[in-house]
Amino acid sequence: MPDIRILSADEARAAIPALARVLVDCVAGGASVGFMQPYGPDEAELYWRDVADAVAAGGNLLLVAELEGQIVGTVQVGAAQMPNQPHRGDLKKLLVHRSARGRGLARRLMQAAEHEAARRGKTLLVLDTATGSDAEAIYPRLGWQRVGVIPDYALWPQGGFCDTTLFYKRLA
Ligand SMILES: CC(C)(COP(=O)(O)OP(=O)(O)OC[C@H]1O[C@@H](n2cnc3c(N)ncnc32)[C@H](O)[C@@H]1OP(=O)(O)O)[C@@H](O)C(=O)NCCC(=O)NCCS
Repeated sequence: MPDIRILSADEARAAIPALARVLVDCVAGGASVGFMQPYGPDEAELYWRDVADAVAAGGNLLLVAELEGQIVGTVQVGAAQMPNQPHRGDLKKLLVHRSARGRGLARRLMQAAEHEAARRGKTLLVLDTATGSDAEAIYPRLGWQRVGVIPDYALWPQGGFCDTTLFYKRLA
């Protein structure tokens, strides 16, 4: 069984190399999660440093999944930026290392993220994900509502336009 943990800012900083390994593996595997190939640990560590800063500032909830003490998965809930959306969170960067997929880690991470977001007063979460990706198939299984598709929203990591599918989930 994986351990699911919510990281403090200090724990997030200590976890940067491990989180970078997960992100680099997902981009190498073709996941459209914001970055282009080639993508290496140095760039990934910069990204996770910003995430740790956001955790310190109180703007981000960061969760990890561990197997035998190793971080192999992660997800975040970002606070919506504007004062008129205090009840909304942005579900981001659900990532599971290829070596740990298909064992229920994403489901456990999502359940924990939704539970903690609700505990912190969020009643609505939104996310977008690459249309046609493995992830797109997962969210409806976890109770998320599909809203629609925006064409040519981003690029696949190896190049070429990628549509995005929007989802939401009410927590209350
Ligand atoms: C998407 C991702 C996080 C799934 O992680 P995972 O740990 O393998 O997922 P789980 O084992 O928890 O599976 C969750 C559910 O989705 C289903 N599922 C998993 N992979 C699937 C696939 N490729 N196609 C269809 N369904 C799938 C599982 O059967 C499970 O459903 P169930 O619990 O009802 O049986 C992982 O593939 C990944 O990291 N992909 C690259 C990064 C990415 O695209 N992230 C999304 C950013 S929005």
